[in-house]
Amino acid sequence: MITLDNIEKIYRTDKIETVALHAISLNIREGEFISIMGPSGSGKSTLLNIMGLLDAPSGGTLKLAGSAVAAQGDRQLARIRNERLGFIFQTFHLIQDLSVVDNVEVPLLYRRMSGAERRTLALRALERVGLSARVHHFPGQLSGGQQQRVAIARAIVGSPKIVLADEPTGNLDSQMGDDIISILLDLNKAEKSTIVMVTHDPRMAEKTERTIRLFDGRQVN
Ligand SMILES: Nc1ncnc2c1ncn2[C@@H]1O[C@H](COP(=O)(O)OP(=O)(O)OP(=O)(O)O)[C@@H](O)[C@H]1O
Ligand SMILES: [Mg+2]
Repeated sequence: MITLDNIEKIYRTDKIETVALHAISLNIREGEFISIMGPSGSGKSTLLNIMGLLDAPSGGTLKLAGSAVAAQGDRQLARIRNERLGFIFQTFHLIQDLSVVDNVEVPLLYRRMSGAERRTLALRALERVGLSARVHHFPGQLSGGQQQRVAIARAIVGSPKIVLADEPTGNLDSQMGDDIISILLDLNKAEKSTIVMVTHDPRMAEKTERTIRLFDGRQVN
């Protein structure tokens, strides 16, 4: 589903060159739920962002569902991002002046779909994450765990095959973190979604099928 072959990432500024990833090769199968661990600065977010087409590698090849990504133009990449990928971030990234249901509809604005269809899908996604009672609230009126559930609903509303989560429980207490992991496990089972989750928490990583460990931009397991 996601294949990385010798992926490198070098950040260059005027004076310094940082090698954030050294020759990472990985094969993530369809329906797998994997975690990525490693110390701060080891390249976890860089790796996830490359898989999610938010950043381009400096070398190597990335394939999503069998097709090489480098060959595609920007518009096609944006389309793949919108249709096949769902993102969840540590700090939620919700739009503060849109209601919960409007936030969840955002990815669908890029699809050809009526307003009524968008609303139906958004409400269904919110039901999945247990937030049907909060659809007209605004993000600022919700707890951290609830905001992260809205972000998950937004990530899954378009039925992406791949869900990428960067420390989704990093800003939550352990009870709320457990709720978030249950939702992701459920999604992985019910929808066969392929999930890649970055985490600092070994308890969370333990619940996934496999853990990839990074150290200084290298894979160490
Ligand atoms: N835009 C950038 N420009 C220059 N260097 C960068 C940039 N983004 C990341 N880096 C560097 O690349 C390395 C990997 O960063 P990355 O954000 O992937 O780490 P991380 O493992 O996600 O860390 P954390 O656990 O703190 O989130 C770090 O040394 C970082 O300073
Ligand atoms: Mg990070």
